[in-house]
Amino acid sequence: MELYLDTANLEQIKEVAELGIIRGVTTNPSLLAKEDPTVDFKQRILEIHKLVGGHLSVEVISTDKEGMIREAEEIVEWFPEATIKIPMIPQGLSAVKELSKKGIPTNVTLVFSVTQALAAHHAGATYISIFLGRLDDIGYDGIGILNDVCEIWDVQNYDSLIIAASIRNPLHIIESARAGADIATVPYNVLMQSIKNPLTERGLEIFLRDYDNYLTSRQKSMLI
Ligand code: E4P
Repeated sequence: MELYLDTANLEQIKEVAELGIIRGVTTNPSLLAKEDPTVDFKQRILEIHKLVGGHLSVEVISTDKEGMIREAEEIVEWFPEATIKIPMIPQGLSAVKELSKKGIPTNVTLVFSVTQALAAHHAGATYISIFLGRLDDIGYDGIGILNDVCEIWDVQNYDSLIIAASIRNPLHIIESARAGADIATVPYNVLMQSIKNPLTERGLEIFLRDYDNYLTSRQKSMLI
């Protein structure tokens, strides 16, 4: 399972890209709206693209098929490797069908059920984003639905790639990997939390303190 960062924040992308653990970034209109409003959409996307050097999903804001296709074609003119995020609505499925004929990769977003995932696959989606956290928020079992999807994809030998999205905690990352998701797209705070452990910090403190004590006693012994 690959890890993507779910953000539109340049500082977060820079910091995490430096660690070498992410293979892409996913954005959405809400994430972009949290950033500097003086920077225009295209400029922000191109800045992110420059930093990522891997997968980048950019979401359309039209809700009609023609509008989605027009936006998608415009985005791939900015950078040809773009993946276009399309909402899981009937017009979105028609747009995915057209874009897949044109060879433009799509990421069907806002998927909350197995049947929606199946529809996205059959329309020709390249990626399908299952929203775990938002399912959990309303009392559904996000990981349970992801498990079902991954099991069916295995049995049916489907080639669309499953993204575990709306990740809220490190356990979501573990369970997504166990389910067999291809990718987990993780917010910055959850990703940083997932690589930290108090035992690591304490262990390092002890190693450094012990080595310091060793150097001090060595210096003392050489003076005698
Ligand atoms: C997926 O690509 C979405 O951007 C994202 O995971 C949404 O997550 P949220 O429920 O934290 O907004």
